[in-house]
Amino acid sequence: MFSNRRKRLAVILSLVLIFVLYLQWPAAQDARLSWARPSPALPQENLEDGKFHWSKVPQQYQVTSFRSVPKPFRSKIPKIQHAFPAESAKSRAIRLSRLQAVKGNFTHAFKGYAEHSWLHDEVAPLSGNSLDPFGGWAATLVDSLDTLWMMGMHEEFERAIHSLDKIDFNTCSLEEINVFETTIRYLGGFLAAYDLSGGKYSALLHKATEIGDMLYKAFDTPNRMPITRWNFKDAAGGAIQTAPEVILVAEIGSMTLEFTRLSQLSGNPKYFDAVQRIMDVFYEQQNRTKVPGLWPVVVNARDLDFTGHGGFTIGGMADSAFEYLPKQYLLLGGAMEQYHELYDGALKAMKRNIFYRPTTPTQADILFPGVVDSDGKTPVDELVTEGKAEHLGCFAGGMVALAAKVFNNPADLLTAKKLVEGCLWAYESMHQGIMPEIMHLLPCEDPSNCPWDEAKWHDAVNASYEEWLPTPVRVENERLLPGLIKIDDRRYILRPEAIESVFILYRITGDPALPDRAWRMFNSIVANSLTDIAHAALDDITVPNPPKADSMESFWMAETLKYFYLIFSEPDLVSLDEYVFNTEAHPLRRPTTSWW
Ligand SMILES: *[C@@H]1O[C@H](CO)[C@@H](O)[C@H](O)[C@H]1NC(C)=O
Ligand SMILES: *[C@@H]1O[C@H](CO)[C@@H](O)[C@H](O)[C@H]1NC(C)=O
Ligand SMILES: *[C@@H]1O[C@H](CO)[C@@H](O)[C@H](O)[C@H]1NC(C)=O
Repeated sequence: MFSNRRKRLAVILSLVLIFVLYLQWPAAQDARLSWARPSPALPQENLEDGKFHWSKVPQQYQVTSFRSVPKPFRSKIPKIQHAFPAESAKSRAIRLSRLQAVKGNFTHAFKGYAEHSWLHDEVAPLSGNSLDPFGGWAATLVDSLDTLWMMGMHEEFERAIHSLDKIDFNTCSLEEINVFETTIRYLGGFLAAYDLSGGKYSALLHKATEIGDMLYKAFDTPNRMPITRWNFKDAAGGAIQTAPEVILVAEIGSMTLEFTRLSQLSGNPKYFDAVQRIMDVFYEQQNRTKVPGLWPVVVNARDLDFTGHGGFTIGGMADSAFEYLPKQYLLLGGAMEQYHELYDGALKAMKRNIFYRPTTPTQADILFPGVVDSDGKTPVDELVTEGKAEHLGCFAGGMVALAAKVFNNPADLLTAKKLVEGCLWAYESMHQGIMPEIMHLLPCEDPSNCPWDEAKWHDAVNASYEEWLPTPVRVENERLLPGLIKIDDRRYILRPEAIESVFILYRITGDPALPDRAWRMFNSIVANSLTDIAHAALDDITVPNPPKADSMESFWMAETLKYFYLIFSEPDLVSLDEYVFNTEAHPLRRPTTSWW
């Protein structure tokens, strides 16, 4: 009897064991996934060729144990994209003609770059001069690789691939490099081009690893926090490094996607390990800052103290640190709840202290992300949000929309729509159909009831200038439109954030009005910025024929034109269910779970 029972127990235990093994089995097959192993076509870097190699520079502060990239969590993430119905012949014809116009303008700008500034960072679109503000490593070319591929410009893509070995990361046009910009533009650019072209071009992964190894050296500090404005020549020479006390939160908080993808593709966990250490600090500090949930724009990486500074924004200098939370969750295939928690805490605080509804003559039900200062003593519910509206902040609608799908919070989609409508309102109401870099609006006292009151608007205008002028004169001089308090920066520098969010919202909701509105944005931008050589940043979008600046940043072709192209493409071109975009619009392949 007794032994019988033991036998039965043994049988049951064996069955349980077999079942557990069965459950584990697919995970054991991970090696089949392309992200989990180095590309088989990848020849090893020849480290003994007598040349300088970043991977051979010794680390002063060695990491002894690396955290490996967690395996994607099976089928945890809901479908993101809208199920688009078949289109009519008429709407297809319209869509294709718009697509062609975007590609035509991209081709024009790329030709200008190729003819005047090949392998330089930027072409100056008026003079045709070449500029090298990002190290002189062909920033525009690297940033444009994946756009070339998407637009089917394979000849130009191949030509670019063949020039890659001319990009030499051992020489640099600068004394100090910006680690964040280098990560999002170059590392992101190589990785996305590699992913998008199906892993066929191993030179791209080589380049990514080369620059990844260079950037990894910036993390060689006692607490492994990176130096973000980095003298890499000193570092190569063996200088002792310490993370700075003053660091912009965006620059330290938005390298997770690129470093994680590099670990996934190369099979080397050290890159993921490096950025995960940063995010563990973000996690530990999140509820201790002066606005719990958010991290201030300036943080102290030397002492791992993010609680000192009192200025909070999700616009410039902070933006992508927030954007990367749901995106990193996606890239990890839902494997780390930590990113979910980080985002939830941040969003809650944004809704409370950052997002505001501005007062407009039409009582538009829209939102902008503003800024808030805290002394750490005033209760967070009593803090006053400043009605700043930055073009850089226009990414927020896309972030909230994406996260609403990823974390299955349909109510947040409404918040996302209001944020997207905010930036569309700015484009659609401004003088030349383009939103300026920075302006101020008047936040409603009660967002649920926000009547237009011209006297109140005038008071607010009057109060925001030092020297006194009769308000109507002020409004005329400053070319203020009703609702605008101040236009702090009248430029439009070819930025992408507004169309980025319109694109993401469109792929999620399928709202057919969005491509029409995107088309008007595109026409306004192109009509004002076109030059013989390429397209130029605008100095003042509040006057007719805005004067042009001799500048075209690489994000024009990497991001702005790419998002315009994608909104007029078939929705399965770079689907949000397959890719996640870094903050420079470089799509990284999400781990697939279809093998389950
Ligand atoms: C650029 O876009 C405009 C629409 O704004 C279009 O009319 C024009 O043909 C495009 N340029 C090229 C070279 O395709
Ligand atoms: C921060 O607070 C939120 C509640 O607002 C909580 O859900 C979260 O777990 C906290 N984070 C940490 C790291 O304790
Ligand atoms: C504008 O503000 C000044 C004080 O800064 C005040 O003296 C003046 O009356 C205000 N004018 C209007 C028209 O509100």
